[in-house]
Amino acid sequence: MLEELLTKLREITASAAADLEAAKTEADIDAVKNRTLGRNGAVTALSSMMGKLPNESKRDAGKAFNEAKTAIQDALNAARERLESVVDEKNKIDVTLPGRRWAIGTKHPVSQAIEDACAIFRRMGFIAVTGPELEDVWHNFDALNAPLTHPSRDPQDTFYLEDGRLLRTQTSAVQIRTMMGRKPPLRIVSPGRCYRRDTPDATHGVHFHQLEGLYIDKQVSLADLKSTLMTFASEFFGREIEVRMRPSFFPFTEPSVECDFSCVMCGGKGCNVCKNSGWLEIAGAGMVNPKVLENVGYDPKEVQGYAFGFGLERLAMIKHRINDLRLFSDNDVRFLHQF
Ligand code: DAH
Repeated sequence: MLEELLTKLREITASAAADLEAAKTEADIDAVKNRTLGRNGAVTALSSMMGKLPNESKRDAGKAFNEAKTAIQDALNAARERLESVVDEKNKIDVTLPGRRWAIGTKHPVSQAIEDACAIFRRMGFIAVTGPELEDVWHNFDALNAPLTHPSRDPQDTFYLEDGRLLRTQTSAVQIRTMMGRKPPLRIVSPGRCYRRDTPDATHGVHFHQLEGLYIDKQVSLADLKSTLMTFASEFFGREIEVRMRPSFFPFTEPSVECDFSCVMCGGKGCNVCKNSGWLEIAGAGMVNPKVLENVGYDPKEVQGYAFGFGLERLAMIKHRINDLRLFSDNDVRFLHQF
């Protein structure tokens, strides 16, 4: 009888120890406890056999019970500690790890070019104004003296809405809006987005940004324009830049010129950026056509002015050595983070 009792106790203790070693949750441990030491547990049930034992065996049996209970209790405690340490390990904070960083955005290179250009012109007395991207034909073409047959008016080149309005093709439309709303003298620059039905490639996009400049006063000449552009270019690119003018044609200027900057990279010696010419074509410009002045109600005998316009992506491309216009609108953060 005693032998049987001791064997059972050993079995219970061994199986409890094995189960506790494998226990994964608090509930696994509780189950072992209930099954062994609990009110209906195996050890508790065995203790009822105690009374039936002969007196000489009672001492050994009592000792075996105590040992079994202690062994199971120790195993229970050990299993609990093991579980707690796993949880602790999971919640442990490694104070040597670097903190989590916010993914902070950067200013788009075209926005930077707009801000830089406006700040430079502001120091020369030009205020920045904006106009609508959704324009009417009058501001975008008619008032700017574009002949009715001008190819740029063609729906192949310009996005028209059903109501006859259009997405402006040039910021020159803002010249008209500004002059209609203010009396001379005035000096403005107007940066903004323009749209054309071009097939996108490395240098053309269906939308791009221009910066328009306009200066109207009593005594204005192309020499003023040249010095203004030279100052702007030198400030913008951070080195002395020469400006050269070549005859050209725009409906809204007379005479019209094409303005080249001496090459920003080589300073005019010739390199692959300027295709060995030493010059970069940058801006269209000219003296505001008297017809345009009349269209906005100014008297061409009283005032004159110059106007110019250039592409902002082109400036940013030269400044940052970017070789494809499409990169500006791909919105790839790896590209944008470089500026
Ligand atoms: N609007 C012209 C273009 O889109 C650029 C331009 C040329 C603007 C001459 C002007 C100017 O103000 O005088 O190509």
